[in-house]
Amino acid sequence: MENEIQEIFARIFGRPAQNIYFAPGRVNLIGEHTDYNGGNVFPVAITLGTYAAVRKREDRHVRLYSESFPEKGIMEFTLDDLTYKKADDWANYPKGMFHFLKEAGFLIDQGLDMAIYGNIPNGAGLSSSASIELLTGVMLRDLFDLSIDTLDLVKLGQKTENQFMGVNSGIMDQFAVGMGQADHALLLDTHTLDYEVVPADFGDYVLAIMNTNKQRKLTGSQYNERRHECEQALKKLQEKLTIHSLGELDSETFLANVHLLENENLVKRARHAITENERTKKAKIALQKGNLVEFGELLNASHASLQKDYEVTGKELDTLVYTAQQHPGALGARMTGAGFGGCAIALVKKTAWDDFVQEVAQTYLEKIGYPTEIYQANIDDGARKL
Ligand code: GLA
Repeated sequence: MENEIQEIFARIFGRPAQNIYFAPGRVNLIGEHTDYNGGNVFPVAITLGTYAAVRKREDRHVRLYSESFPEKGIMEFTLDDLTYKKADDWANYPKGMFHFLKEAGFLIDQGLDMAIYGNIPNGAGLSSSASIELLTGVMLRDLFDLSIDTLDLVKLGQKTENQFMGVNSGIMDQFAVGMGQADHALLLDTHTLDYEVVPADFGDYVLAIMNTNKQRKLTGSQYNERRHECEQALKKLQEKLTIHSLGELDSETFLANVHLLENENLVKRARHAITENERTKKAKIALQKGNLVEFGELLNASHASLQKDYEVTGKELDTLVYTAQQHPGALGARMTGAGFGGCAIALVKKTAWDDFVQEVAQTYLEKIGYPTEIYQANIDDGARKL
């Protein structure tokens, strides 16, 4: 990949690149739709990700090319106009990082040429956008000697997503992409941003990523709507309880106060946020103890809650997940990321891998009419210079 991105850069910009950077994608093991509710998440960074080859320029132009969108050609903006423009399409992700770094007082006084190439499927819920954000952040920090730590880059990545792209997402994706550690999962408390690095030791099992191949776009999806429903539920609970987020509630207290919600939909949304947070903490302990059977059961319970209470799965994800769960070599499976399409994960016995892939792929094709793709996930470090 490193050679490939060097070549792309040279072909497009007619001179050699100066530096190469990489930012991973992520999968979330468990803790879905909890990050904007002050709950816990448990993601890993993966070896699929985005590469960038870069060279500084003498002027103030930023020229960007993505091998994933060759038809867009070279996108261009200058350091003097870092506002969001619809026509800039994917280039708004890097541009947002330039914008917020400048706003935070960091000096970037030269333009650059940048070619990027990724092997994360776009729109598959593996955080290709957070990957580009942190890739840009880490690159700019390095090229311009900016004294900013990775956690602050993570926050600027989220700001880009929220305030530039208009997706009201939580901090999980940028956090996993920025702070990931090879062979480890990160238990992040999204309220305090305290986190624990936990060995992701699956023993005789491997983590499968299964792509529904159903394209979805977060912008304009039901994502913002779910977030709003959770805020409404919180507001009603706050009439009696002194809490700042749903993540502070346990199931028992929630059940004792559920009448405050007066609306079945709000009950379901809040119940998911609260039980999912509890499952996430349990799953972390199960993984630490090497209790993979319990870990798998928690994955299954997470999916059921995302399907029935949070209603963010859909036919494709449910087909993939329930087929995977029924395979004798699998300990558990669930959707990962925002939902509505995108990817699911499963914990699969190494010796059953080939059979698992064949059976899930065949059933999915029969029921959905187009193929899935299934790969083994390897857990990588966060965004970095290569
Ligand atoms: C998307 C968002 C994250 C998180 C997940 C759901 O990936 O970007 O912040 O909310 O959905 O867990």
